[in-house]
Amino acid sequence: MNDIIQQVEQLRQEAEASLAQAKNTEAIRTWHSDYLGRKGRLTALLRVLGSLSNEERPRVGKVINEAKIALEQAVQERQEALARAEMEAARSAERVDVTLPGRPQTLGKLHPTSMTLREIYAIFTAMGFQIYDSPEVETDEYNFQLLNMPPGHPARDMWDTFYTTTPELILRTHTSPGPIHAMREYAPEPIRVILPGKVYRYEQVTARSESMFYQVEGLAVGKHITFCDLKGVLTNFANQMYGEGRETRFRKSYFPFTEPSVEMDIDCVLCNRKGCPVCKYTGWLEILGAGMVHPTVLQYGGYDPSEFSGFAFGMGPDRIALQKYGIDDIRYFFTNDARLFERV
Ligand code: FA5
Repeated sequence: MNDIIQQVEQLRQEAEASLAQAKNTEAIRTWHSDYLGRKGRLTALLRVLGSLSNEERPRVGKVINEAKIALEQAVQERQEALARAEMEAARSAERVDVTLPGRPQTLGKLHPTSMTLREIYAIFTAMGFQIYDSPEVETDEYNFQLLNMPPGHPARDMWDTFYTTTPELILRTHTSPGPIHAMREYAPEPIRVILPGKVYRYEQVTARSESMFYQVEGLAVGKHITFCDLKGVLTNFANQMYGEGRETRFRKSYFPFTEPSVEMDIDCVLCNRKGCPVCKYTGWLEILGAGMVHPTVLQYGGYDPSEFSGFAFGMGPDRIALQKYGIDDIRYFFTNDARLFERV
């Protein structure tokens, strides 16, 4: 009997020493199955109890039980200590050094054309113009015929067109069909609207010309509207857009839907009229086409031209953005290269 008690004592000491060596959860699990598991060494000693006499059994049983309880408590403590140490190690490995400089965040920016469009909206809405939405896919009738260009009219050549597989349906080549929609909705009320949106032209893409670009159309219709109103509104616009003191000039031009027709230039913001590649050494930049709405077009819109008159204009905000932000190629606007935004 004493022999067994001694064995238990020895096993307990050995188990405690081996537990102290266990350095991680995995080692503890192995330790547990070696000593306390179903086939463990302490459990094996319990089986010997059966061969002992009735007097010996309770004494030896008590010693084995005590050893078992002591070892279970020891393993629990060891387990907790290890878990704490592992957590501590993980924490210090992940410790944040709050004195390190932060990572810079790249902030988004509005596209130069969107910024320009917003400026244009602000200037015209302050002058009482409302924003009117019109379709990008148009009929031949709205894009050309109602603008005084019947089939075969030579002026259609000014706008190289994208056709669709549906006869008569095209991508609008300019925002000028928009005013027809607006006039037909509001006639005979007076109108003051701007109509922004994308337009499409089947033309050579170059540093100044895209096949998809923005335009902003403007239209004012009412009684007693004269060419002076056109000049006043557009000069006011140019002063606000480019800064007071820029010179503007109107050149005679031709559009089938306005009469008379003009183009408006400002003196080149880049070279101050000295001449540079952007203004093609003329000192002037064209910013828009305009004119008094042709009487036939007013009629198509539902207005009596003997009572009503109006002016219209169409500008290219992409080109305005090129000038304003000193960007030398319109193709950057659609190539999805974020370096564009470093320039604005
Ligand atoms: C027109 O499109 C006329 N509808 C403008 C108009 C409206 C005249 C109302 C009279 C009354 P134009 O083709 O010139 O005109 O284009 C107007 C503006 O669009 C140009 O001044 C230019 O700023 C811009 N633009 C023209 N083609 C391109 C292009 N390929 N890429 C970028 N911008 C362009």
